[in-house]
Amino acid sequence: MRAHLAAVVPPALAPRRAARRLAATLRAGGRGPRGHNRGPPRPAPGPAPASAATMNQPLPPPTPTPADPDRGDGQQDGAPDTPAPAERRPVRSFVLRGGRMGTGQLRALAELGPRFVLPFAAAPLDRQSVFGRNAPLLLEIGFGMGDATAAVAQALPDHDLLGCEVHEAGVGALLKLVGERGLANVRILRHDAVEVLREMIAPASLAGVHIWFPDPWHKKRHHKRRLVQPPLAALLASRLAPGGYLHCATDWQPYAEQMLAVLSAEPLLLNAAAGGVGYVARPAWRPLTKFEARGLRLGHGVWDLVFRRSS
Ligand SMILES: C[S@@+](CC[C@H](N)C(=O)[O-])C[C@H]1O[C@@H](n2cnc3c(N)ncnc32)[C@H](O)[C@@H]1O
Repeated sequence: MRAHLAAVVPPALAPRRAARRLAATLRAGGRGPRGHNRGPPRPAPGPAPASAATMNQPLPPPTPTPADPDRGDGQQDGAPDTPAPAERRPVRSFVLRGGRMGTGQLRALAELGPRFVLPFAAAPLDRQSVFGRNAPLLLEIGFGMGDATAAVAQALPDHDLLGCEVHEAGVGALLKLVGERGLANVRILRHDAVEVLREMIAPASLAGVHIWFPDPWHKKRHHKRRLVQPPLAALLASRLAPGGYLHCATDWQPYAEQMLAVLSAEPLLLNAAAGGVGYVARPAWRPLTKFEARGLRLGHGVWDLVFRRSS
């Protein structure tokens, strides 16, 4: 593990300004002004080298979404809530927001992004070339700062984990954990998970899906933004292998009730709770997430739901 860690984390730490410049270049989708991306790709650490097609790709920007006054976590952006024509603005479950990134996150983004962040493509993921093997694949949607993702990847080295998150700071944070812990079984897509599921995940190919504390979108007029809706349930069910599981958790009871109704109505999904109804007790293996910890501090309850795809 130590030798692997040494291979993943560069010994010399890039100066803060250089890391920022390189991350900005990656964000802009261009080559480094001083040739940062030039030359042959660095040898990839670990047992699962990325394919030539995924190496040294600039960090793909997620599909931009205009600001929204209620970001689902109760914070206000202050932007007017003026709906645009539906064909120009699809309803998404996230709103992009800025946020300062720490030096470690920036450095991880610059150093590890080319290996661990996959470009979005409208083509099924070639797992053999991406992970170097065909291990059971878990998908996490909206990993936030990636603490739970890293914990699961570390606990399940015989599984591969694909994490989808649209926020750059979260991607940087997870990359930092990947480097610190030498995790070879994680890949990241900085893109709308709905499109990733539709375009990149083959039918009946996922061993499990984690949707932990998705944005609750408290206000009624924003409920349409909630991730767990009937079309997503059908899409998820189609991507799960028979017997594969979907694990959702939320600290917002109305959303828990919506999840329960939506998932129970999906013909391909079976509720794994006792008697086939209701919620499950929090599985001991599910790591505490940042968002969950915040909810617990505020006195919120937590609802876990586990459904399996029928065979
Ligand atoms: C409330 S946060 C929870 C983060 C983390 N799971 C936790 O518990 O700390 C929800 C996250 O989901 C992400 N998200 C929402 N919709 C998404 C989508 N369609 N694709 C990828 N990420 C999404 C948001 O960017 C946000 O970081």
